[in-house]
Amino acid sequence: MKKRISYLIALCIAATAIFSACNNENKVPENVTFTEHVAPILYNNCTVCHRPGGGAHFSFITYQDAKKYAGSMAFVTKERIMPPWPADPHYTEFKGQRVLTDKDIEILSKWAKEGAPEGSTDKMPILPKYPSSLAGAPDMRIAVTPYFIKAFSSDKFLLIKVPYELPADTFASLIEFVPGHSNVVHHVNGDMVKYVFEQKKDVFAGERIVNMEEDTATLVKAFQKLGLPNDDGSYPVLQKSVVNYLPGAIGQIYPQGIGGYILPRKGAFLFNDIHYGFTGKDDITDTSYINIFFSKIPPNRPVQEFQLGTLGQAPVEPDLIIMPNTVKPVSSHFKVVNDISILTINPHMHLLGKSFKAYALKPNGDTIRLISIPRWDFNWQYFYTFKKMVKIPANSIIVAEGIYDNTKQNLNNPFSPPQIVTDQTGSMKATDEMFQFIITYLPYKDGDEKISLE
Ligand code: HEC
Repeated sequence: MKKRISYLIALCIAATAIFSACNNENKVPENVTFTEHVAPILYNNCTVCHRPGGGAHFSFITYQDAKKYAGSMAFVTKERIMPPWPADPHYTEFKGQRVLTDKDIEILSKWAKEGAPEGSTDKMPILPKYPSSLAGAPDMRIAVTPYFIKAFSSDKFLLIKVPYELPADTFASLIEFVPGHSNVVHHVNGDMVKYVFEQKKDVFAGERIVNMEEDTATLVKAFQKLGLPNDDGSYPVLQKSVVNYLPGAIGQIYPQGIGGYILPRKGAFLFNDIHYGFTGKDDITDTSYINIFFSKIPPNRPVQEFQLGTLGQAPVEPDLIIMPNTVKPVSSHFKVVNDISILTINPHMHLLGKSFKAYALKPNGDTIRLISIPRWDFNWQYFYTFKKMVKIPANSIIVAEGIYDNTKQNLNNPFSPPQIVTDQTGSMKATDEMFQFIITYLPYKDGDEKISLE
Protein backbone atom coordinates (compact mmCIF):
# COMPACT_ATOMS: atom_id res chain seq x y z
CA MET A 1 0.00 0.00 0.00
CA LYS A 2 2.73 2.39 1.03
CA LYS A 3 4.61 1.69 -2.16
CA ARG A 4 1.53 2.40 -4.19
CA ILE A 5 1.10 5.81 -2.54
CA SER A 6 4.68 6.85 -3.17
CA TYR A 7 4.30 5.67 -6.75
CA LEU A 8 1.23 7.90 -7.04
CA ILE A 9 3.10 10.81 -5.56
CA ALA A 10 5.94 10.31 -8.03
CA LEU A 11 3.44 10.17 -10.86
CA CYS A 12 1.81 13.31 -9.57
CA ILE A 13 5.09 15.17 -9.45
CA ALA A 14 5.87 14.13 -12.99
CA ALA A 15 2.40 14.97 -14.14
CA THR A 16 2.24 18.32 -12.37
CA ALA A 17 4.60 19.69 -14.92
CA ILE A 18 2.02 18.91 -17.58
CA PHE A 19 -1.33 18.93 -15.80
CA SER A 20 -2.13 20.83 -12.68
CA ALA A 21 -4.62 18.17 -11.56
CA CYS A 22 -2.34 16.70 -8.89
CA ASN A 23 -1.54 20.03 -7.40
CA ASN A 24 -3.24 20.52 -4.03
CA GLU A 25 -4.00 24.10 -5.00
CA ASN A 26 -6.38 22.75 -7.57
CA LYS A 27 -8.07 20.12 -5.43
CA VAL A 28 -11.59 20.81 -4.22
CA PRO A 29 -11.43 20.88 -0.40
CA GLU A 30 -12.89 18.04 1.67
CA ASN A 31 -15.37 20.25 3.53
CA VAL A 32 -16.64 23.13 1.47
CA THR A 33 -18.06 26.03 3.50
CA PHE A 34 -19.50 29.42 2.64
CA THR A 35 -17.09 31.58 4.60
CA GLU A 36 -13.89 29.85 3.57
CA HIS A 37 -14.51 28.70 0.01
CA VAL A 38 -17.73 30.03 -1.51
CA ALA A 39 -17.70 33.68 -0.42
CA PRO A 40 -14.26 34.34 -2.02
CA ILE A 41 -15.58 33.05 -5.36
CA LEU A 42 -18.75 35.13 -5.10
CA TYR A 43 -16.92 38.27 -4.01
CA ASN A 44 -14.46 38.00 -6.88
CA ASN A 45 -16.90 37.09 -9.60
CA CYS A 46 -20.51 37.78 -8.69
CA THR A 47 -21.19 40.49 -6.09
CA VAL A 48 -20.18 43.27 -8.49
CA CYS A 49 -23.72 42.67 -9.79
CA HIS A 50 -25.34 40.54 -7.07
CA ARG A 51 -25.48 43.16 -4.32
CA PRO A 52 -27.87 45.97 -3.41
CA GLY A 53 -27.35 48.61 -6.10
CA GLY A 54 -25.60 46.13 -8.44
CA GLY A 55 -26.90 45.06 -11.84
CA ALA A 56 -28.88 42.01 -10.62
CA HIS A 57 -32.08 41.86 -8.57
CA PHE A 58 -30.71 39.72 -5.74
CA SER A 59 -27.65 39.78 -3.51
CA PHE A 60 -25.09 37.10 -2.60
CA ILE A 61 -23.24 39.11 0.03
CA THR A 62 -24.40 37.44 3.24
CA TYR A 63 -24.61 33.75 3.97
CA GLN A 64 -28.37 34.04 4.56
CA ASP A 65 -28.91 35.60 1.12
CA ALA A 66 -26.54 33.35 -0.81
CA LYS A 67 -27.74 30.08 0.76
CA LYS A 68 -31.17 30.40 -0.89
CA TYR A 69 -29.52 30.31 -4.32
CA ALA A 70 -27.03 27.48 -3.71
CA GLY A 71 -28.79 25.10 -6.14
CA SER A 72 -29.29 27.61 -8.95
CA MET A 73 -25.74 28.96 -8.52
CA ALA A 74 -24.41 25.45 -9.05
CA PHE A 75 -26.52 25.12 -12.18
CA VAL A 76 -25.82 28.49 -13.83
CA THR A 77 -22.09 28.25 -13.19
CA LYS A 78 -21.83 24.69 -14.51
CA GLU A 79 -23.64 25.79 -17.68
CA ARG A 80 -21.37 28.88 -17.77
CA ILE A 81 -24.40 31.16 -17.94
CA MET A 82 -22.98 33.06 -14.94
CA PRO A 83 -20.86 35.06 -14.55
CA PRO A 84 -22.02 36.47 -17.89
CA TRP A 85 -19.02 36.38 -20.25
CA PRO A 86 -20.05 35.20 -23.72
CA ALA A 87 -16.55 35.44 -25.27
CA ASP A 88 -14.63 32.16 -25.42
CA PRO A 89 -11.62 32.67 -23.09
CA HIS A 90 -9.72 29.94 -24.95
CA TYR A 91 -9.87 31.96 -28.16
CA THR A 92 -8.83 35.36 -26.80
CA GLU A 93 -8.51 36.94 -23.37
CA PHE A 94 -9.66 40.41 -22.39
CA LYS A 95 -9.20 42.95 -19.63
CA GLY A 96 -11.44 42.29 -16.63
CA GLN A 97 -12.80 39.02 -17.96
CA ARG A 98 -14.94 37.08 -15.56
CA VAL A 99 -14.53 33.35 -16.08
CA LEU A 100 -14.70 30.74 -13.32
CA THR A 101 -12.13 27.97 -13.11
CA ASP A 102 -13.30 24.36 -13.16
CA LYS A 103 -12.36 24.20 -9.50
CA ASP A 104 -14.59 27.19 -8.61
CA ILE A 105 -17.48 25.50 -10.38
CA GLU A 106 -16.90 22.24 -8.51
CA ILE A 107 -16.77 24.08 -5.18
CA LEU A 108 -20.12 25.73 -5.83
CA SER A 109 -21.60 22.41 -6.88
CA LYS A 110 -20.22 20.53 -3.86
CA TRP A 111 -21.41 23.27 -1.50
CA ALA A 112 -24.97 23.00 -2.88
CA LYS A 113 -24.92 19.19 -2.71
CA GLU A 114 -23.76 19.21 0.89
CA GLY A 115 -26.57 21.47 2.08
CA ALA A 116 -24.77 24.83 1.81
CA PRO A 117 -22.96 24.84 5.19
CA GLU A 118 -21.84 28.20 6.60
CA GLY A 119 -18.47 27.44 8.24
CA SER A 120 -16.62 29.54 10.74
CA THR A 121 -17.49 33.25 10.57
CA ASP A 122 -13.90 34.37 11.25
CA LYS A 123 -12.94 32.97 7.80
CA MET A 124 -15.25 35.43 6.07
CA PRO A 125 -13.41 37.54 3.43
CA ILE A 126 -13.77 41.32 3.20
CA LEU A 127 -16.22 42.54 0.59
CA PRO A 128 -14.47 44.47 -2.19
CA LYS A 129 -15.41 48.14 -2.60
CA TYR A 130 -17.69 49.03 -5.49
CA PRO A 131 -17.45 52.78 -6.10
CA SER A 132 -20.17 54.18 -8.39
CA SER A 133 -17.51 56.16 -10.22
CA LEU A 134 -14.19 54.86 -11.49
CA ALA A 135 -12.40 58.13 -10.97
CA GLY A 136 -13.90 59.87 -7.94
CA ALA A 137 -15.55 63.30 -7.99
CA PRO A 138 -16.20 64.55 -11.53
CA ASP A 139 -15.64 68.11 -12.76
CA MET A 140 -19.05 68.16 -14.36
CA ARG A 141 -22.13 66.06 -13.83
CA ILE A 142 -25.08 66.16 -16.23
CA ALA A 143 -28.36 64.51 -15.31
CA VAL A 144 -30.10 62.38 -17.92
CA THR A 145 -33.80 63.32 -18.23
CA PRO A 146 -35.64 61.16 -15.66
CA TYR A 147 -37.56 58.31 -17.23
CA PHE A 148 -40.67 56.79 -15.69
CA ILE A 149 -41.29 53.06 -16.07
CA LYS A 150 -44.45 51.31 -14.88
CA ALA A 151 -44.18 48.17 -12.78
CA PHE A 152 -44.03 44.90 -14.75
CA SER A 153 -43.53 46.65 -18.08
CA SER A 154 -41.55 45.02 -20.86
CA ASP A 155 -38.05 45.99 -21.96
CA LYS A 156 -37.64 49.50 -23.32
CA PHE A 157 -35.18 50.66 -25.99
CA LEU A 158 -34.76 54.40 -26.11
CA LEU A 159 -32.81 57.15 -27.76
CA ILE A 160 -31.97 59.88 -25.29
CA LYS A 161 -30.38 63.24 -25.91
CA VAL A 162 -28.41 64.94 -23.14
CA PRO A 163 -27.48 68.46 -24.32
CA TYR A 164 -24.96 70.75 -22.64
CA GLU A 165 -23.29 74.08 -23.12
CA LEU A 166 -19.83 75.05 -21.83
CA PRO A 167 -18.04 78.43 -21.61
CA ALA A 168 -15.35 77.18 -24.01
CA ASP A 169 -14.14 74.04 -25.81
CA THR A 170 -12.90 71.75 -23.03
CA PHE A 171 -10.59 68.73 -22.86
CA ALA A 172 -11.77 65.66 -20.96
CA SER A 173 -9.96 62.49 -19.97
CA LEU A 174 -12.99 60.37 -19.07
CA ILE A 175 -16.73 60.39 -19.62
CA GLU A 176 -18.69 57.85 -17.64
CA PHE A 177 -22.30 56.81 -17.32
CA VAL A 178 -23.62 56.22 -13.81
CA PRO A 179 -26.96 54.43 -13.68
CA GLY A 180 -29.70 55.59 -11.32
CA HIS A 181 -31.53 52.29 -10.84
CA SER A 182 -28.70 49.97 -11.69
CA ASN A 183 -30.82 46.84 -11.73
CA VAL A 184 -33.07 48.30 -14.45
CA VAL A 185 -30.64 50.21 -16.67
CA HIS A 186 -29.30 47.43 -18.77
CA HIS A 187 -27.04 48.68 -21.46
CA VAL A 188 -26.15 52.06 -22.80
CA ASN A 189 -24.22 53.10 -25.91
CA GLY A 190 -23.52 56.78 -26.07
CA ASP A 191 -22.04 59.02 -28.76
CA MET A 192 -21.14 62.71 -28.66
CA VAL A 193 -22.75 65.22 -31.01
CA LYS A 194 -20.25 68.01 -31.70
CA TYR A 195 -21.68 71.30 -32.90
CA VAL A 196 -19.83 74.11 -34.56
CA PHE A 197 -20.87 77.01 -32.33
CA GLU A 198 -22.37 79.20 -35.06
CA GLN A 199 -24.30 76.38 -36.71
CA LYS A 200 -26.66 75.56 -33.84
CA LYS A 201 -28.61 78.19 -31.97
CA ASP A 202 -30.25 76.08 -29.28
CA VAL A 203 -28.86 72.67 -28.33
CA PHE A 204 -31.65 72.28 -25.77
CA ALA A 205 -34.47 72.42 -28.37
CA GLY A 206 -36.27 69.21 -29.38
CA GLU A 207 -37.42 66.14 -27.48
CA ARG A 208 -35.11 64.44 -25.01
CA ILE A 209 -36.38 60.87 -25.35
CA VAL A 210 -37.61 58.76 -28.26
CA ASN A 211 -38.93 55.26 -27.72
CA MET A 212 -37.96 53.31 -30.85
CA GLU A 213 -40.58 50.60 -30.32
CA GLU A 214 -43.54 52.94 -29.80
CA ASP A 215 -42.56 55.60 -32.29
CA THR A 216 -41.62 53.00 -34.92
CA ALA A 217 -39.32 55.70 -36.09
CA THR A 218 -36.47 55.38 -38.51
CA LEU A 219 -33.25 56.77 -37.14
CA VAL A 220 -33.55 59.86 -39.33
CA LYS A 221 -37.03 60.64 -37.96
CA ALA A 222 -35.83 60.04 -34.43
CA PHE A 223 -32.88 62.39 -34.90
CA GLN A 224 -35.22 65.11 -36.17
CA LYS A 225 -37.56 64.66 -33.23
CA LEU A 226 -34.59 65.02 -30.90
CA GLY A 227 -33.64 68.24 -32.66
CA LEU A 228 -30.17 66.94 -33.52
CA PRO A 229 -29.56 68.56 -36.94
CA ASN A 230 -27.90 71.94 -37.31
CA ASP A 231 -30.14 74.98 -37.89
CA ASP A 232 -29.74 74.57 -41.67
CA GLY A 233 -30.78 70.89 -41.54
CA SER A 234 -27.30 69.47 -42.07
CA TYR A 235 -25.80 67.07 -39.54
CA PRO A 236 -23.07 67.86 -37.02
CA VAL A 237 -20.10 65.57 -36.36
CA LEU A 238 -20.87 62.47 -34.31
CA GLN A 239 -18.08 60.94 -32.24
CA LYS A 240 -19.03 57.33 -31.59
CA SER A 241 -18.98 55.32 -28.37
CA VAL A 242 -17.67 57.96 -26.00
CA VAL A 243 -19.78 56.70 -23.12
CA ASN A 244 -20.90 53.09 -22.86
CA TYR A 245 -22.25 51.11 -19.96
CA LEU A 246 -23.14 47.52 -19.11
CA PRO A 247 -23.71 46.22 -15.56
CA GLY A 248 -20.50 45.00 -14.02
CA ALA A 249 -18.39 45.94 -17.04
CA ILE A 250 -15.06 47.64 -16.65
CA GLY A 251 -15.12 51.26 -17.83
CA GLN A 252 -12.98 52.37 -20.72
CA ILE A 253 -10.16 54.09 -18.90
CA TYR A 254 -7.01 53.82 -20.98
CA PRO A 255 -3.47 54.45 -19.73
CA GLN A 256 -2.20 58.04 -19.67
CA GLY A 257 -1.47 59.41 -23.07
CA ILE A 258 -4.18 57.34 -24.77
CA GLY A 259 -7.71 58.46 -25.44
CA GLY A 260 -9.28 61.68 -24.24
CA TYR A 261 -11.93 63.94 -25.74
CA ILE A 262 -12.56 67.47 -26.86
CA LEU A 263 -15.95 68.68 -25.70
CA PRO A 264 -17.12 71.49 -27.97
CA ARG A 265 -18.81 74.53 -26.38
CA LYS A 266 -22.13 73.31 -27.67
CA GLY A 267 -22.78 69.61 -27.72
CA ALA A 268 -24.98 66.73 -26.70
CA PHE A 269 -24.54 63.18 -25.62
CA LEU A 270 -26.71 60.88 -27.67
CA PHE A 271 -27.59 57.54 -26.14
CA ASN A 272 -28.36 55.85 -29.43
CA ASP A 273 -29.48 52.80 -27.52
CA ILE A 274 -30.39 52.67 -23.88
CA HIS A 275 -32.03 49.48 -22.75
CA TYR A 276 -34.20 49.43 -19.64
CA GLY A 277 -34.83 45.85 -18.50
CA PHE A 278 -37.51 44.33 -16.34
CA THR A 279 -38.69 46.57 -13.47
CA GLY A 280 -40.43 44.09 -11.18
CA LYS A 281 -43.33 45.01 -8.94
CA ASP A 282 -42.62 48.71 -8.39
CA ASP A 283 -42.98 51.73 -10.63
CA ILE A 284 -39.64 53.46 -10.93
CA THR A 285 -38.29 56.75 -12.19
CA ASP A 286 -34.74 56.37 -13.34
CA THR A 287 -32.38 59.31 -12.99
CA SER A 288 -29.00 58.35 -14.38
CA TYR A 289 -26.22 60.83 -14.97
CA ILE A 290 -23.01 61.43 -16.86
CA ASN A 291 -19.75 62.21 -15.07
CA ILE A 292 -17.13 64.17 -16.96
CA PHE A 293 -13.52 64.51 -15.86
CA PHE A 294 -11.74 67.48 -17.42
CA SER A 295 -8.14 67.50 -18.50
CA LYS A 296 -5.65 70.33 -18.93
CA ILE A 297 -3.98 68.68 -21.88
CA PRO A 298 -5.50 67.99 -25.29
CA PRO A 299 -5.97 64.34 -26.24
CA ASN A 300 -2.57 63.10 -27.32
CA ARG A 301 -3.73 59.97 -29.12
CA PRO A 302 -7.52 60.21 -29.46
CA VAL A 303 -9.18 56.86 -29.98
CA GLN A 304 -10.66 56.30 -33.42
CA GLU A 305 -13.34 53.90 -34.53
CA PHE A 306 -14.57 52.01 -37.54
CA GLN A 307 -17.47 49.71 -37.96
CA LEU A 308 -18.16 46.68 -40.13
CA GLY A 309 -21.67 45.60 -41.09
CA THR A 310 -25.04 47.35 -40.77
CA LEU A 311 -24.63 51.14 -41.19
CA GLY A 312 -20.86 50.58 -41.22
CA GLN A 313 -17.93 51.02 -43.59
CA ALA A 314 -18.13 47.45 -44.95
CA PRO A 315 -21.38 45.79 -46.02
CA VAL A 316 -22.98 42.65 -44.63
CA GLU A 317 -22.65 39.82 -47.14
CA PRO A 318 -25.07 38.55 -48.26
CA ASP A 319 -27.75 41.12 -47.32
CA LEU A 320 -29.12 40.56 -43.85
CA ILE A 321 -32.48 39.14 -44.85
CA ILE A 322 -33.24 36.17 -42.66
CA MET A 323 -36.04 33.96 -43.94
CA PRO A 324 -38.26 32.14 -41.45
CA ASN A 325 -37.14 28.65 -40.40
CA THR A 326 -33.58 29.14 -41.60
CA VAL A 327 -30.16 29.41 -40.05
CA LYS A 328 -28.20 32.06 -41.92
CA PRO A 329 -24.46 32.81 -41.91
CA VAL A 330 -23.27 36.30 -42.88
CA SER A 331 -19.92 38.05 -42.90
CA SER A 332 -18.30 41.42 -43.43
CA HIS A 333 -14.77 42.21 -44.62
CA PHE A 334 -12.76 45.35 -44.10
CA LYS A 335 -9.28 46.08 -45.40
CA VAL A 336 -7.01 47.99 -43.02
CA VAL A 337 -4.92 50.50 -44.99
CA ASN A 338 -2.31 51.47 -42.34
CA ASP A 339 -0.87 49.68 -39.32
CA ILE A 340 -3.29 50.04 -36.42
CA SER A 341 -3.41 49.10 -32.73
CA ILE A 342 -6.78 47.74 -31.63
CA LEU A 343 -7.95 48.64 -28.11
CA THR A 344 -11.57 47.56 -27.82
CA ILE A 345 -14.04 45.59 -29.90
CA ASN A 346 -17.81 45.29 -29.76
CA PRO A 347 -19.75 42.64 -31.64
CA HIS A 348 -23.43 43.48 -32.04
CA MET A 349 -26.44 41.40 -33.06
CA HIS A 350 -30.02 41.20 -31.81
CA LEU A 351 -32.28 38.35 -30.73
CA LEU A 352 -31.71 35.96 -33.64
CA GLY A 353 -27.92 35.98 -33.12
CA LYS A 354 -26.51 32.49 -32.58
CA SER A 355 -22.74 32.94 -32.76
CA PHE A 356 -20.14 35.54 -33.68
CA LYS A 357 -16.50 35.37 -34.64
CA ALA A 358 -13.93 37.91 -35.79
CA TYR A 359 -10.29 37.76 -36.80
CA ALA A 360 -7.79 39.52 -39.04
CA LEU A 361 -6.04 37.91 -42.00
CA LYS A 362 -2.53 39.29 -42.41
CA PRO A 363 -1.12 39.81 -45.92
CA ASN A 364 1.16 36.78 -45.31
CA GLY A 365 -1.88 34.59 -44.61
CA ASP A 366 -1.52 34.40 -40.81
CA THR A 367 -4.57 34.85 -38.65
CA ILE A 368 -4.84 37.23 -35.70
CA ARG A 369 -7.64 36.12 -33.41
CA LEU A 370 -10.01 38.82 -32.21
CA ILE A 371 -13.05 37.19 -30.62
CA SER A 372 -15.25 34.13 -30.65
CA ILE A 373 -18.70 34.04 -29.08
CA PRO A 374 -19.95 30.49 -29.50
CA ARG A 375 -23.32 31.15 -27.83
CA TRP A 376 -24.57 34.66 -28.60
CA ASP A 377 -26.32 36.39 -25.68
CA PHE A 378 -28.32 39.51 -26.53
CA ASN A 379 -28.18 40.66 -22.90
CA TRP A 380 -24.41 40.75 -22.56
CA GLN A 381 -22.86 42.78 -25.35
CA TYR A 382 -19.60 43.99 -23.88
CA PHE A 383 -17.10 46.41 -25.29
CA TYR A 384 -14.23 43.94 -24.94
CA THR A 385 -10.89 45.63 -24.22
CA PHE A 386 -7.72 43.66 -24.93
CA LYS A 387 -5.16 43.23 -22.14
CA LYS A 388 -2.60 44.70 -24.48
CA MET A 389 -3.22 46.47 -27.77
CA VAL A 390 -3.35 44.18 -30.78
CA LYS A 391 -1.33 45.30 -33.79
CA ILE A 392 -2.98 44.76 -37.16
CA PRO A 393 -0.53 45.36 -40.01
CA ALA A 394 -1.48 47.38 -43.08
CA ASN A 395 -3.33 45.48 -45.80
CA SER A 396 -4.78 42.94 -43.38
CA ILE A 397 -8.42 42.05 -43.82
CA ILE A 398 -10.67 42.08 -40.79
CA VAL A 399 -13.33 39.43 -41.05
CA ALA A 400 -16.48 39.30 -38.92
CA GLU A 401 -18.73 36.25 -39.19
CA GLY A 402 -22.16 35.84 -37.66
CA ILE A 403 -24.78 33.12 -37.66
CA TYR A 404 -28.48 33.86 -37.18
CA ASP A 405 -31.08 31.34 -36.07
CA ASN A 406 -34.57 32.20 -37.27
CA THR A 407 -36.12 28.85 -36.35
CA LYS A 408 -38.51 28.17 -33.52
CA GLN A 409 -35.71 26.26 -31.75
CA ASN A 410 -34.20 29.67 -30.97
CA LEU A 411 -35.86 30.43 -27.64
CA ASN A 412 -35.12 34.15 -28.07
CA ASN A 413 -36.95 34.34 -31.41
CA PRO A 414 -39.29 37.30 -30.95
CA PHE A 415 -41.80 35.88 -33.45
CA SER A 416 -43.88 32.74 -33.29
CA PRO A 417 -44.17 31.45 -35.93
CA PRO A 418 -40.84 32.85 -37.25
CA GLN A 419 -41.08 35.77 -39.71
CA ILE A 420 -38.77 37.45 -42.19
CA VAL A 421 -36.34 39.63 -40.23
CA THR A 422 -33.97 42.16 -41.80
CA ASP A 423 -31.74 45.13 -41.05
CA GLN A 424 -33.10 47.01 -44.04
CA THR A 425 -35.47 49.41 -42.33
CA GLY A 426 -32.70 51.35 -40.59
CA SER A 427 -34.61 50.95 -37.35
CA MET A 428 -32.94 49.84 -34.17
CA LYS A 429 -35.82 47.81 -32.77
CA ALA A 430 -34.66 44.69 -31.01
CA THR A 431 -37.05 42.68 -33.21
CA ASP A 432 -35.25 43.86 -36.33
CA GLU A 433 -31.73 42.54 -36.80
CA MET A 434 -28.32 44.10 -37.02
CA PHE A 435 -24.87 42.76 -37.75
CA GLN A 436 -22.11 45.05 -36.55
CA PHE A 437 -18.53 44.84 -35.42
CA ILE A 438 -17.18 48.04 -33.89
CA ILE A 439 -13.44 48.50 -33.47
CA THR A 440 -11.71 51.28 -31.55
CA TYR A 441 -8.07 51.76 -32.47
CA LEU A 442 -5.09 54.06 -32.69
CA PRO A 443 -2.70 54.52 -35.59
CA TYR A 444 0.11 52.11 -34.67
CA LYS A 445 3.21 53.36 -32.87
CA ASP A 446 6.32 51.34 -32.07
CA GLY A 447 5.92 49.45 -28.83
CA ASP A 448 2.11 49.68 -28.68
CA GLU A 449 1.72 45.94 -28.27
CA LYS A 450 3.71 46.13 -25.02
CA ILE A 451 1.48 48.75 -23.35
CA SER A 452 -0.82 47.14 -20.78
CA LEU A 453 -4.42 48.33 -20.88
CA GLU A 454 -5.27 46.74 -17.50
C1 HEC B 1 -22.29 41.35 -14.81
C2 HEC B 1 -23.29 41.15 -13.81
C3 HEC B 1 -23.41 39.78 -13.20
C4 HEC B 1 -22.40 39.01 -12.69
C5 HEC B 1 -20.92 39.32 -12.63
C6 HEC B 1 -23.04 37.79 -12.21
N1 HEC B 1 -24.38 37.85 -12.42
FE1 HEC B 1 -25.73 36.41 -11.96
N2 HEC B 1 -27.20 37.50 -12.83
C7 HEC B 1 -27.07 38.77 -13.32
C8 HEC B 1 -28.33 39.22 -13.85
C9 HEC B 1 -28.62 40.57 -14.48
C10 HEC B 1 -29.25 38.15 -13.67
C11 HEC B 1 -30.70 38.09 -14.12
C12 HEC B 1 -31.64 38.24 -12.97
C13 HEC B 1 -31.63 39.64 -12.42
O1 HEC B 1 -31.81 40.60 -13.16
O2 HEC B 1 -31.43 39.76 -11.22
C14 HEC B 1 -28.50 37.09 -13.00
C15 HEC B 1 -29.06 35.89 -12.63
C16 HEC B 1 -28.41 34.95 -11.86
C17 HEC B 1 -29.03 33.77 -11.29
C18 HEC B 1 -30.47 33.36 -11.47
C19 HEC B 1 -30.60 32.57 -12.74
C20 HEC B 1 -32.03 32.18 -12.97
O3 HEC B 1 -32.39 32.24 -14.13
O4 HEC B 1 -32.72 31.87 -12.03
C21 HEC B 1 -28.07 33.11 -10.57
C22 HEC B 1 -28.25 31.82 -9.77
C23 HEC B 1 -26.85 33.86 -10.71
N3 HEC B 1 -27.09 34.96 -11.49
C24 HEC B 1 -25.64 33.48 -10.16
C25 HEC B 1 -24.45 34.16 -10.37
C26 HEC B 1 -23.18 33.71 -9.88
C27 HEC B 1 -22.97 32.47 -9.01
C28 HEC B 1 -22.26 34.61 -10.30
C29 HEC B 1 -20.75 34.58 -10.09
C30 HEC B 1 -20.08 33.34 -10.29
C31 HEC B 1 -22.96 35.63 -11.06
N4 HEC B 1 -24.29 35.32 -11.07
C32 HEC B 1 -22.35 36.74 -11.64
C33 HEC B 1 -25.90 39.52 -13.36
C34 HEC B 1 -24.65 39.04 -13.01
